[in-house]
Amino acid sequence: MTDTHEIVTLITGADKGIGFATAEGLGKLGQHVLVGSRNTERGQAAVDKLTAEGIKATLIVLDVTDKDTIKQAVDTINKQFGYLSVLINNAGIALDRHQVPSKLSTDVIRKEYDVNFFGMIDVTQAMLPLLKKDTPAKIINLSSNMGSFGLTTDPNNRLYNVSAVGYQSSKAAVNFFTVDLSKELADEGITVNSVNPGWTATEFGGRPKDAPKIPGMQDIADGARQSIKMASLPREDKTTGTFSEFEGQMPW
Ligand SMILES: NC(=O)c1ccc[n+]([C@@H]2O[C@H](COP(=O)([O-])OP(=O)(O)OC[C@H]3O[C@@H](n4cnc5c(N)ncnc54)[C@H](OP(=O)(O)O)[C@@H]3O)[C@@H](O)[C@H]2O)c1
Repeated sequence: MTDTHEIVTLITGADKGIGFATAEGLGKLGQHVLVGSRNTERGQAAVDKLTAEGIKATLIVLDVTDKDTIKQAVDTINKQFGYLSVLINNAGIALDRHQVPSKLSTDVIRKEYDVNFFGMIDVTQAMLPLLKKDTPAKIINLSSNMGSFGLTTDPNNRLYNVSAVGYQSSKAAVNFFTVDLSKELADEGITVNSVNPGWTATEFGGRPKDAPKIPGMQDIADGARQSIKMASLPREDKTTGTFSEFEGQMPW
């Protein structure tokens, strides 16, 4: 592989929030970012913004719950690039709205799992052949401190009183996918790691569009730091099977 080898990075849910900031950060580092978006207009607007900043960006229409769009995404990437260097499974939703576990409907929990867990697995499995064409390659899964057993069972931690069993368990499940897949791919030159962005001032984080930040929330650019760091580790870096945030390792 020569020094001019282009790193091609797909980020799901990259039309806004942490995904967009991750695309921006990695694009500025010279990676060609594939902006995953389930909406063509929002995705194209994100690509136009990145392109205006001098970033190499391409729209990939991709709904992680729709296997047809996943297949089309694989075909498009294969045709245009022939390989994928980094996959960042960033798309995620939370619908629990502080409901207690004895009342939260499984209809809600299933919707969360469809995006956060099953969608992430479908995208990863579909992209693996393209990642195997550009080893050493990387898979980064967006998890959450809310999915950490270590933090949420510690009475001294602020997350002890959080109640969002759908979202929390879906992110704990993401971590299990990271652990098991990292072992499976260890000898194939593909690393797999989970990251926690931290509480971030996105709509997801609870901040309505254009509203002031809630105290304690970090800026969106800060929420993207760990994804950017893990996705820009040197190609030969072998870190795998970890769960980390920008400040260091996370308890599972
Ligand atoms: N913000 C926080 O405080 C925080 C904390 C811990 C972990 N996280 C995690 O960080 C990741 C990014 O969150 P964020 O705060 O940036 O959220 P966000 O601003 O709501 O962005 C989420 C992105 O995911 C996309 N998405 C949702 N469902 C999708 C689907 N079915 N297919 C494809 N894309 C889909 C959204 O697309 P649309 O624009 O079409 O809705 C959007 O682009 C998530 O995995 C989240 O769980 C966030």
